[in-house]
This record gives sequence, C-alpha cells and structure tokens, in this order.
Amino acid sequence: EKGFKKVEVFSKEHLAVSLAYDVAQLSNKFTKERGAFTVVLSGGSLIKYLRKLVEPPYIDSIEWSKWHVFWVDERVVPKDHLDSNYKLAYDGFLSKVPIPAVNVYAVDDALPADGAADVYETNLRRLVKSNVISTSNSGLPKFDLMLLGMGPDGHVASLFPEHPLLKEDQKWVTFIKDSPKPPPERITFTFPVINSSSNTAMVVTGEGKSSAVYSALEDGQKTDKLPVELVSPEGELKWYLDIGAASKLFKD
Ligand code: 6PG
Repeated sequence: EKGFKKVEVFSKEHLAVSLAYDVAQLSNKFTKERGAFTVVLSGGSLIKYLRKLVEPPYIDSIEWSKWHVFWVDERVVPKDHLDSNYKLAYDGFLSKVPIPAVNVYAVDDALPADGAADVYETNLRRLVKSNVISTSNSGLPKFDLMLLGMGPDGHVASLFPEHPLLKEDQKWVTFIKDSPKPPPERITFTFPVINSSSNTAMVVTGEGKSSAVYSALEDGQKTDKLPVELVSPEGELKWYLDIGAASKLFKD
C-alpha cells in the first residue's frame, strides 16, 4: 500500500514558513532516530522556498552537522554556471548554513553526462552500504526527505512527459541529452529512487502550473500520465501549493 498524501494551499509567504517548520521537524526526527538526515534538493524555484530555514529559530536549532545533501537532478554544466542546480542551492541556501562540505554530494562537473550519472549512482550505493542513506525493502536508497518541484508541463526532476526515461527501472541515476527544457544535458534520479523516499515535499507555485496540478490531483481518468502523476512514494507525500497553482482545483 502506498503512503499518505496531503495537499495544502498557502500564500507564498506562508508556504515558506510551513515548509521550514516541516523540514525542521523531519530533521529533528531523523537526527534523533538515525543520527543522520538525508535531503534531496531540486533546482528551480524550490530553493527560494527554503529561505526561512536560514533564519532564526531554525538556523540555530537544526543540527546541520547531521545533514547529507543530494540533488534529484543536475544540469551538465560547470558548478559556477548560472544553469547549475548546485550553484543555485549554494547561493540561496547551502552557503548560509553550517552543513559540513563533505556531506554535500554535488554532481561531478568534470565528467560527461553518462559518467557523472554512473559516478553519482556508485556514490549512492556506497552511502546505502554504510547506512548513511537508509534502504527500502527492495534495496533502493530511501531518502529521509525528497524536495521536488514541478514544471508547467508536469515534469519532475529531469523526467519529462512521454520520455522513455519515465520507464527506467534499473538505474538509480541516469542521464538525458535531449531535455526539452534547456540545458539539454542533465543527470537525474529515476522513479524507483524518487518513489522510495520516506517523505516527499512537492512544492509548486504559480498559475502556470495549475493545469498540471489539476491533472495530478483531480483528473483520475487519463491513461497518459504526466511525470508528476508517477510520483507515488512509499512514504508520505505532501503538496505545498500557492493559490495560483491550486486555482483549478476548487472549481465546480
Ligand atoms: C531542474 C529542476 C526541475 C524543477 C522543475 C520546476 O533542474 O530543472 O530540478 O526539476 O524542479 O523544473 O522548476 P520551477 O520550480 O523553477 O518551475
């Protein structure tokens, strides 16, 4: 049986407040339970919704030394490039919190897409073996918290509508060279890994995303599923929507 799903709608300000509260609670819980907290970041607008975590009370109360940070997807560009998800996260979040540098698992930007994906997967396997990352019943990495965004076309990570990678069920981390959203070359977690998480936050804002949100949450009839509709984690899934993103949900 699949996990529990919750949907909440906020003003943009309260979304950041509520997300920070929930992340801090989870950090506390996992730090106590297993002495580590594994968090997967996305690119895009997600990072700015983490802004309350770098302020009091959280900046002082969270046990940042226990955090281990990963990326659900990354663009194949140098780490200081404007398109880099690492740079986005570093500038907006990681540079402001005392997470040990060795616990920040950036994608190797010296490698081509295929090599970078392989190395990232090898690293995940090592961290699963050493129990830094928990393991699901089927032996997949079970992250404590997966922070996802969604594009207006319903993509999550770098898993795009109608792309063959939606069906990838062997690799944990793979690469794409024909991303419809630039830049074209990316590496990405696959659905088996995304869906093994203990907790998933789906952070979606803006009216441009309201149709995809509607498809995912209300429209159960379709056979062609958007990538976001394939997010069906074993653990808890919570949607954080703003009023714009939720605007098609409560009509008729
Ligand atoms: C990426 C992101 C991506 C993102 C969505 C939503 O590298 O493109 O990780 O998966 O989460 O595209 O982005 P926005 O929140 O900026 O719309």
